Amino acid sequence: MGYDQKPIRSSSRVKCQKLHLAFLTTCCCLVSVTLLVGCSVSSTKLSSWPWNHAAPAAAPMAGGRIGSQKLVEAADKQELKPVCDFADTRSVVCELEGDIRIHGNSSSILFAGSSPASWQMKPHPRKDDPNALSHVTQISVTSFAADGDAPRCAVSSTTPAIVFSTGGYMGNPFHDFTDVLIPLFITSFQFDGEVRLLVGDIAPWWIQKYEPILTGLSRHDIIDLNRDDVVRCFPHVIVGLRFHKEMSIDPSRTQNGLSMLDFGRFVRRSFALRRESATKLGADRNKKPRLLIIARRATRVLENVDEVARAARGLGFEVVVAEAGRKTNLTAFARLVNSCDGMMGVHGAGLANFVFLPMNTTLIQVVPLGQLDEIARVDFGAAAEDMEMKYVQYGISEEESTLIEQYPRDHAVFNDPTAITKQGWTARRSVYLLNQNVRIDVVRFRDVLIQALEFLHRE
Ligand SMILES: *[C@@H]1O[C@H](CO)[C@@H](O)[C@H](O)[C@H]1NC(C)=O
Ligand SMILES: *[C@@H]1O[C@H](CO)[C@@H](O)[C@H](O)[C@H]1NC(C)=O
Ligand SMILES: *[C@@H]1O[C@H](CO)[C@@H](O)[C@H](O)[C@H]1NC(C)=O
Repeated sequence: MGYDQKPIRSSSRVKCQKLHLAFLTTCCCLVSVTLLVGCSVSSTKLSSWPWNHAAPAAAPMAGGRIGSQKLVEAADKQELKPVCDFADTRSVVCELEGDIRIHGNSSSILFAGSSPASWQMKPHPRKDDPNALSHVTQISVTSFAADGDAPRCAVSSTTPAIVFSTGGYMGNPFHDFTDVLIPLFITSFQFDGEVRLLVGDIAPWWIQKYEPILTGLSRHDIIDLNRDDVVRCFPHVIVGLRFHKEMSIDPSRTQNGLSMLDFGRFVRRSFALRRESATKLGADRNKKPRLLIIARRATRVLENVDEVARAARGLGFEVVVAEAGRKTNLTAFARLVNSCDGMMGVHGAGLANFVFLPMNTTLIQVVPLGQLDEIARVDFGAAAEDMEMKYVQYGISEEESTLIEQYPRDHAVFNDPTAITKQGWTARRSVYLLNQNVRIDVVRFRDVLIQALEFLHRE
């Protein structure tokens, strides 16, 4: 699975000459907009970058649109200029306004501009991950000076458009949400469905799987960018998806304080999930809350899942064990998750299904050995807390790891995981992620289940 293939952060960071736009940062509060010249992602030398003639400090903003980076009108107020954020560590996003012409099949976007400019970009928020980007078609963005220079519009639209790629690690629920669905929600929310999605590197089954979400974000048909051989014209185009943090949204970077609670509501509406909030147990100890155990069949298997289920039942839970595979009917699975009051599982992509839980629930993440605590927290824990769930992280002991059957107890695998980590992602992944199963000590784990139960009994 894609998540498992995630290479360690590339050290070949793009080296760029940055050019800060002071006049933008004054009005755009939190986001420092940095333009990049001659960056190695760009194969074209930007010798005459339009911003060289920077607009005056009081340059007016174009329109009253949402978003931190807005287009800035040039001094003559006739020409709208693109604004790109190349500084973000995960995502390159460019916003164009005016006369924009897209020819999908040649991966080219043209925009009207008096100064020549051209750059290439991959519209997928994993810019530091060459492995993911190797599945993403590069788009070239180029200015044209006069109408005669540009291809004719075959289809003219007044609707704005978002151009992005579903290449990368799509098919793994963690990546589906963290790399595309949540960033797309952030980027498209302002348009309230009145936006056209032009999607590169499409896998039809993926679009079908997430159709309830995609149709909730755009009421127009999706355009398969790589196979679209007409020139489409738009007045406003965002190329790339805004990324805030893993599996989550930073409300301070959105207008209207958009948050993961909004995403949860949106997802529940999209899949017609009935439960907004977990079962209110109050003081009634006879009501049984439902706990979903996400099973994994191939790697990081919870070997004694039956024993864990029995322990949870003994404490008063109704337990459901399920596995979400690539071919799982997502609507049916989302309903199952939403019928539960808590979810637990060993660290892995299946935990991304927590987005279907009702509010006021608990997410329990079981973290195997291998210094994975921070990754686990960043990938799912923080996001669950952003959804105001109770999040409990359970780091297993050596006795709960099947690694004790493979290595002597004085091995570096236990005593010096840093040494394994230093051998690189492949080694670390092989030892800790692919070849380690978990056998939870139900006596030790009881406390975690009780915490989840008490959270449900709170009110
Ligand atoms: C897209 O362009 C390629 C060449 O780059 C061509 O082979 C293919 O037929 C085109 N597809 C469509 C649907 O136009
Ligand atoms: C998926 O499950 C839903 C809900 O149970 C059902 O209505 C739908 O027909 C299923 N889709 C497919 C393709 O099986
Ligand atoms: C459920 O969670 C929401 C969001 O955190 C909160 O506003 C609400 O008060 C909670 N409801 C209950 C019954 O705890």
